[in-house]
Amino acid sequence: MRIVRAHDYDDMSRKAANIISAQVTLKPDSVLGLATGSTPLGIYAQLIEWYEKGDLDFSQVSTFNLDEYRGLAHDDPQSYHHFMRANFFDRINIDPANTHVPDGSNLDAEGVCAAYDRSVADAGYPDLQLLGIGRNGHVGFNEPGAVFSKGTYCVDLTPSTIEANSRLFDRVEDVPRQAYTMGVQTIMFARSVLVVASGEEKADAVRAMCLGPVDPQCPASILQLHAACTVIADEAALCKMPA
Ligand code: F6R
Repeated sequence: MRIVRAHDYDDMSRKAANIISAQVTLKPDSVLGLATGSTPLGIYAQLIEWYEKGDLDFSQVSTFNLDEYRGLAHDDPQSYHHFMRANFFDRINIDPANTHVPDGSNLDAEGVCAAYDRSVADAGYPDLQLLGIGRNGHVGFNEPGAVFSKGTYCVDLTPSTIEANSRLFDRVEDVPRQAYTMGVQTIMFARSVLVVASGEEKADAVRAMCLGPVDPQCPASILQLHAACTVIADEAALCKMPA
């Protein structure tokens, strides 16, 4: 695991965008694994800026998002389908047919998860998987206690994740209780992994991910065993790490 120190959120975003940009430049038909949440927003904004300047071309790129709430229509403003279109896909020249997000509008959990696993496998798995990290060490929606050997599955969200995600909904009761998520196994199949973290509320999770035992209680800790995992975190998120 390689740890890169960033001064602040903007610096973290630029450094991570540089790695994604290099990936797409070197391999124009890259498969990117993508995340939603607040942390990657600055990365997407930076990539859009470079695309608009003519420095990046996404026409051959395909993407697979980590997760989606179960039970939300694709055009629901809270859905990750909508998030990705609004914050990234609609603003670059990616072919919408090459963008994949688990189908939260379909309640057939087994069917959705099996189909998603097949399409990620058919694409050859991500060349680069972007990840945020939850305050409880979750990656995707793999919550503490997650089984490391799973592909995509349907998960019951923990109260802490429901509470953390409620900031984006009108009321906490509106946050869906279940989601489809790529499992840890699928995430580990990516050829390289890029974890981004910002802010002091992530400091315990970052420390457990990097220095704690590899333990399902901190799902991100499995990344210590990935051959090519880079963590880019700002000073606040690294405040509990040795200097
Ligand atoms: C999002 C995802 C989540 C987030 C995590 C951190 O697709 O899979 O694991 O990466 O909850 O979220 P933020 O960045 O909002 O702190």
